[in-house]
Amino acid sequence: MYICLCYGVTRDDIQQSTLRGASVEEIQDKFKAGKCCGCCMDEVKSVHCHTKNTMCVNKLQKAA
Ligand code: FES
Repeated sequence: MYICLCYGVTRDDIQQSTLRGASVEEIQDKFKAGKCCGCCMDEVKSVHCHTKNTMCVNKLQKAA
């Protein structure tokens, strides 16, 4: 699913970069997401945040 239509950035692109430890700013630099019309930034941040939260929950579940 495309998140950034201007640069063709997908949800998977954002999720994979987040899993590798990228910040929102690093994702913007790598894919240029949000650097044209900017309409996608809320969704880029949302996918990044959701992916990070999922990582934290998984770590807590493994530690328990
Ligand atoms: S949709 Fe991402 S910059 Fe336009």
